Amino acid sequence: MALRNIVPKLMLPSIRLSSAAAIPKLVTSSVPGPKSQQMKEKLGTIQNTEAVNFFVDYEKSQGNYIVDVDGNRILDAFTQISSIPIGYNHPALIEAVQSKSAVTASVNRPALGMFPPADFIDSVDDAFLSIAPKGFSHVQQMACGTCAVENALKCAFFKYRNDERGGSEPVEVDMTSCMNNEAPGSPSLAAMSFKSGFHGRTLGSLSLTRTKPIHKVDVPAFDWPCVDFPILKYPLEENVADNEKIEKECLAKVEETFHKWKSSKPIAALIVEPIQAEGGDNHASPHFFQGLQKICKEHNCAFIIDEVQTGGGPTGQMWAHETWNLPTPPDFVTFSKKMHIAGFYYQKSFEPKQGYRVFNTWVGDPLRLSLLKTTVQVIKRDSLLDLAKKSGNILMDGLNHLQASKPNMISRLRGMGTFIAFDLPSEELRGKLINDMLQKGVLIGGCGKTAIRLRPSLIFDKNECEIFLSTLEKCL
Ligand SMILES: Cc1ncc(COP(=O)(O)O)c(C=O)c1O
Repeated sequence: MALRNIVPKLMLPSIRLSSAAAIPKLVTSSVPGPKSQQMKEKLGTIQNTEAVNFFVDYEKSQGNYIVDVDGNRILDAFTQISSIPIGYNHPALIEAVQSKSAVTASVNRPALGMFPPADFIDSVDDAFLSIAPKGFSHVQQMACGTCAVENALKCAFFKYRNDERGGSEPVEVDMTSCMNNEAPGSPSLAAMSFKSGFHGRTLGSLSLTRTKPIHKVDVPAFDWPCVDFPILKYPLEENVADNEKIEKECLAKVEETFHKWKSSKPIAALIVEPIQAEGGDNHASPHFFQGLQKICKEHNCAFIIDEVQTGGGPTGQMWAHETWNLPTPPDFVTFSKKMHIAGFYYQKSFEPKQGYRVFNTWVGDPLRLSLLKTTVQVIKRDSLLDLAKKSGNILMDGLNHLQASKPNMISRLRGMGTFIAFDLPSEELRGKLINDMLQKGVLIGGCGKTAIRLRPSLIFDKNECEIFLSTLEKCL
């Protein structure tokens, strides 16, 4: 039974940990401080630590504040690459992991595809189905965002081949040829993605990812097509005609690509992010996405919306694509990050009949599912989607003001909820700003070539917005 939009009866511990007054930011050493640097050196003797920023004291971190091992308390507007939904050490989550079922799930991690626990159906209902995007009643949990993308893709290919066979299951020749990686069992099919799109780093998903060469170089790739994503001009209201033209051209390219690949390697799946996140926070209009869906339908191609980064509330919606008013739901919606656990919603027609076709040892983690269940309850109880909208408005107002006063520094301000970005004049200045902000106690991230991105938790409120804006003003 789906429990969509039911406010939970459970008594959840309250939050008021995010208040800047209660927890002032406090940076006493440079970040990374001496302890962090020592630890990084030590870990560097065992593994590559090039990406390590600083070491964290997760016990002391609270609400919107991350505390490093040197005792620096930093306002976190990046939240572990956008993946802490309701702040550090939220009391409701701490209580949830101490429940008997959570303790049992963590010490007896089940192979969920084969031996699910008795409370699994209720958890799926309460966690996944209560917030399912409109038009979805099926969901498959997975371990990480990349894994979700890969398996949604596989389901798209299964269905395409099934349709080609007139609805029949794989036959003997499919079964024998696939063991040699040959057609028809291993068919010549393609998946289309967009320039600057990011969909993960494992072998299949990496062929869809088109952000940075360093992610892809030296790895064999599928020969799959990639088309331009619209790069809109800002401010939007002053560039309506140009932006319409840009989107129209991109749609025409998508259509052309379908035709070009049709005879040699038909495109069975198209994957797109509602806002291209890693690639630079590139937005497009609902009209563009409606157009994409229409083209996909015409070519019997699965329409996969990758909400790994946009999903779970930061845009002020649980799912960003729900603002597009699509005439019918998409075929898949992938998720991870703020959801604690990864997976994908899918239309029933894409579900393979046999077991073990979408499978791995753990297929997710019931412990993470219980964290999602509690998080969903907190989001509803504390109206955190509304808070993301309100805080987003405060941030956009302040940033608009800064953009007007420093047009040589800030440009192309864009956002939805607190999912906000703006460009700096160069990569060097972007790096310098991120570091200056950190030294003043505010953690932010970069994306694309020169953009700053904000990815705070859903409890980022007025106080935090003000601290962020005043620190930014000083640094600029
Ligand atoms: C849109 C999108 N898809 C997929 C992924 C991959 O997710 P994960 O890192 O959990 O494998 C990411 C990660 O940043 C993402 O932003």
